[in-house]
Amino acid sequence: MTGIDAFTDVLDGPMYVVTAASDGKRAGCLVGFASQCSIDPPRFAVWLSVANHTYRLAREAEYLTVHLLHRDDRALAELFGGETGDRVDKFARVGWRPGEAGSPVLEQLSTWFTGRIEGRIEGGDHVGFLLAPVAVCPPYGDRPPPLLRYRELRHLDPGHPA
Ligand SMILES: Cc1cc2nc3c(=O)[nH]c(=O)nc-3n(C[C@H](O)[C@H](O)[C@H](O)COP(=O)(O)O)c2cc1C
Repeated sequence: MTGIDAFTDVLDGPMYVVTAASDGKRAGCLVGFASQCSIDPPRFAVWLSVANHTYRLAREAEYLTVHLLHRDDRALAELFGGETGDRVDKFARVGWRPGEAGSPVLEQLSTWFTGRIEGRIEGGDHVGFLLAPVAVCPPYGDRPPPLLRYRELRHLDPGHPA
């Protein structure tokens, strides 16, 4: 137990797939460390483990695309969280299209935004990417589908240990 586990063990936040592209290459991983962090200007931060293939590509990227996971998206969560781009081409197994500046948008995931990387924040074994939105999905109606949350994925073996 570290000093903060008693606090973080109770959390059950939304889960995301964050994608990046640079130099004709693509990467993406499952992310739980993410949050809106400013209203005006609108800003959102995602935290990538320095061990991850996605982090290495994101260092060279101008944009990241952040996709929100819904309950039906478990298989996609397992692909992006349980496999590493160091060994498999995740994008050969899913439908995607190049969005803003080629940033990959996953076709199965309808709730997403693309953000320009405005800054990077050293956080320890994860680095924060501060994003300013430049493109966003169409809004849901009154009843967005339920989210896929951390507790449902916490036993998944990550493709890269943090
Ligand atoms: C429940 C869960 C939450 C995770 N949260 C993060 C996270 O916030 N940031 C991160 O960089 N990796 C996180 N990961 C780990 C990556 O998704 C995983 O190691 C992935 O396989 C890395 O893929 P890559 O090497 O292709 O980037 C999480 C994994 C799981 C199972």
